[in-house]
Amino acid sequence: MYITKLSVDGFKNLKKIDFVPHERLNILCGSNAQGKTNLIEAIWLCSGAKSFRNTKDRRMIGDGEEAMSIRLGFRDSVRDQDIVFSASRQNLKEKNVTLNGVKQKAPSKLFGNLNCVIFTPEDLELSKGSPEKRRQFLDLSISQIKNSYSAVVDKYETLVDQRNTLLKNINYGRSSPEELEVWDIQLAQMGAYISLLRYNYTKKLNVYAQRLYDEISEGREKLDISYYSTVFSNLEGRTDYAGDLAGEYLERLKENTEDDLKAGFTQKGIHRDDIVCRINGALAREDASQGQHRSVALILKLAQAYILEEEIHDFPCILLDDVLSELDLSRQKFVISKIHNMQVFITCCDMNIPFDERSHGKMFTIKDGRLKSLNLKSK
Ligand SMILES: Nc1ncnc2c1ncn2[C@@H]1O[C@H](COP(=O)(O)OP(=O)(O)OP(=O)(O)O)[C@@H](O)[C@H]1O
Ligand SMILES: [Mg+2]
Repeated sequence: MYITKLSVDGFKNLKKIDFVPHERLNILCGSNAQGKTNLIEAIWLCSGAKSFRNTKDRRMIGDGEEAMSIRLGFRDSVRDQDIVFSASRQNLKEKNVTLNGVKQKAPSKLFGNLNCVIFTPEDLELSKGSPEKRRQFLDLSISQIKNSYSAVVDKYETLVDQRNTLLKNINYGRSSPEELEVWDIQLAQMGAYISLLRYNYTKKLNVYAQRLYDEISEGREKLDISYYSTVFSNLEGRTDYAGDLAGEYLERLKENTEDDLKAGFTQKGIHRDDIVCRINGALAREDASQGQHRSVALILKLAQAYILEEEIHDFPCILLDDVLSELDLSRQKFVISKIHNMQVFITCCDMNIPFDERSHGKMFTIKDGRLKSLNLKSK
């Protein structure tokens, strides 16, 4: 899919931006603090995901502005669609979000329409950073394919919080241990479902990631990615999440109740699971070099894009915010070669980007929140 039209006004420092992006390559160039990431964020918000920068509602609207609006047209494999995302200072909580003219209850309802895969410098920490980041990556990737999934994860997280409060109340003698059963049954059903989806998704990731890593390491290293479950010892070949798996999950919660009561929180469950990456058999988390971590992170994101294509038969839009400057030349070339058939938005501070003569697209500069079009070699 690709964005056919984008207008942004009053979002952070962006002013009266209105342009037709190139179907493939779009380079957004500008000095620091001019609005490049803001423009990437505006596109990202139209995908229905939460801001990758955790922007507060009141900071979405530019200083001195009364309102902001993002209008985006895109074409997927079937049709043209349009999204409007706007808000005014008077009514910050009530965002006006429409898809093809139909008002949506919340921005998250846009999810699964405009699919984007974003790389930011923080994403380069995906393999090295906390398990939470990897779980978020998995959950976001799965919800792009299966819309109902994120609601189950949200519900699970609320339930775990409630179970943890109950554990503390039991410790204080304010509640009885029998009350746990109601929460455990629900957690087990949701947890089993999420475990299975994450396990199957990770298996797919591994197929693409192994191939890509073989290429980036020029055949010298082998990457292996697997799902680490704190509940199940083996998920291979299992499908009956509502019966078998939920039963086993419930057993595990019960076995751990005593320990959970001592700790005051739920220690086993999908909220503690992880993706485990191994390079030539060694745990990446413990042994990988900075460069290897970066390669793994890049590859996980590329694999996310390829899986989307496999599942929904449409490539996502790729948003590369300030990432190329963080990579050495060979990795820059590798990334670009892998996304040349997708629409890409790349931000950078200088124009030294390694595009070969096949590259064609549009280049823009951003200064003080305003966009200007430049000519790039076009074919
Ligand atoms: N609500 C707002 N109103 C006005 N300006 C804002 C608002 N929120 C953020 N900004 C400003 O937007 C400017 C541009 O931010 P942005 O992160 O897009 O810069 P950038 O071009 O990506 O820079 P860098 O190259 O350093 O990443 C910053 O100066 C920031 O202070
Ligand atoms: Mg930036």
